[in-house]
Amino acid sequence: MIKTLRSVLRFGPVELNAAQRRLNRAASVADLRLIARRRLPRGVFDYIDGAAEDELTLRRNSEAFRRLEFRPRVMCDVGEIDTSTTLLGGRLPVPLVLAPTGFTRVASPGGELDAARAAARAQLPFTLSTMATRSIEEVAAVSSGRKWFQVYVWRDRGLVKEMLARAAASGYEAIVITVDTAMLGRRERDVRHGFTLPPKLGLGTLVDGALHPRWTWDFVRAEPIAFANIIGTGPPSGSEPVNLASYINGQFDPALSWRDLDWFRAQWNGPIVLKGIQSVQDARLAVEAGVEAIALSNHGGRQLDGSPPPIELVAPVADAIGDATEIICDGGIRRGSDIVKAVALGARACMIGRAFLYGLGAAGERGADHVLALLEADMRRTMALTGRRSVSELAPDLVQRRADWA
Ligand SMILES: Cc1cc2nc3c(=O)[nH]c(=O)nc-3n(C[C@H](O)[C@H](O)[C@H](O)COP(=O)(O)O)c2cc1C
Repeated sequence: MIKTLRSVLRFGPVELNAAQRRLNRAASVADLRLIARRRLPRGVFDYIDGAAEDELTLRRNSEAFRRLEFRPRVMCDVGEIDTSTTLLGGRLPVPLVLAPTGFTRVASPGGELDAARAAARAQLPFTLSTMATRSIEEVAAVSSGRKWFQVYVWRDRGLVKEMLARAAASGYEAIVITVDTAMLGRRERDVRHGFTLPPKLGLGTLVDGALHPRWTWDFVRAEPIAFANIIGTGPPSGSEPVNLASYINGQFDPALSWRDLDWFRAQWNGPIVLKGIQSVQDARLAVEAGVEAIALSNHGGRQLDGSPPPIELVAPVADAIGDATEIICDGGIRRGSDIVKAVALGARACMIGRAFLYGLGAAGERGADHVLALLEADMRRTMALTGRRSVSELAPDLVQRRADWA
């Protein structure tokens, strides 16, 4: 009996790093989401995970990928797979960009610095949000990789102009103008939690905090979380808790229109990406306006509930605009196979938001590395199993709508 036991018992080396131990068991982005849900206070997790109103668009963004299936080919000599492509004239090892996310320091103490370092290691562009909790300069100091700066159009154009100048001086390659935020979407999980940014320590948060001591310890120990790019530009600067909806609705310019792009061209001497295009008509107008790329995006379902899933717009938009402007598909991407589907239908690349935030929430910077590695491996495997050797072989005939899904 001892002999049998000895033959089946095999102890591997013990992993001493707790974050790595968690990651070793995380086989997918969905697993990382569950770990992040356990580790983050409920209000913080819901700020990341949640979306507008009934969250129909949030669900549809991911479901729309599941409605598509592959038409695989076999015996195609897939001994060598090349997942690389180009975007805005630069090479990407995988067609992937890290999307802008505000207040990233609620997910991990390093916040945007953790994400930017992970992106640089993977040679992928990192997009810094206007509403970031690390500044343009702080991010540039830790990453020599490709960096984009996302612009929310403030009523105060002087502030926008100043941020663009800082981004240019810090070596950011492109700006991403987000155009789906005339008003902030109603994120009802945040309303229910009374969630403010930065999180305030009320009674509810204290209880929540006590249940998540690790996060609370990091939060209390770190320097205060603030809107790092707009600090000192008038009240509220971000150092005191604000209700996001009332803050944004007071600051963002709802009068933004196509004419404003001329102003941006005069201020910014590099590529412009328009993020938040949700129709073929607007994709055409973006091409006429001469932007270098568009991100088909509904803000991960956080703005208009009832907006179409970006993956469903990729083929019609690609048909309408051809190669004139590069197309980025943003929303619902959780697997490398999702990237393969989007690229096959005509996207040049995809952007991820929650996927890397779940990684940060689960295990900080290593968690973000883990997500990028999972997506890369997924994409490579999907290409091998569908018989496609390179991105140039990803064409619309690779995917079809599932017949059993109305
Ligand atoms: C927590 C969070 C914060 C976000 N903040 C911003 C932001 O500041 N600016 C912006 O343009 N988009 C923002 N987004 C939207 C993302 O850039 C992206 O469009 C979206 O996350 C894509 O969907 P996915 O999360 O399913 O990948 C945010 C998304 C999340 C989840």
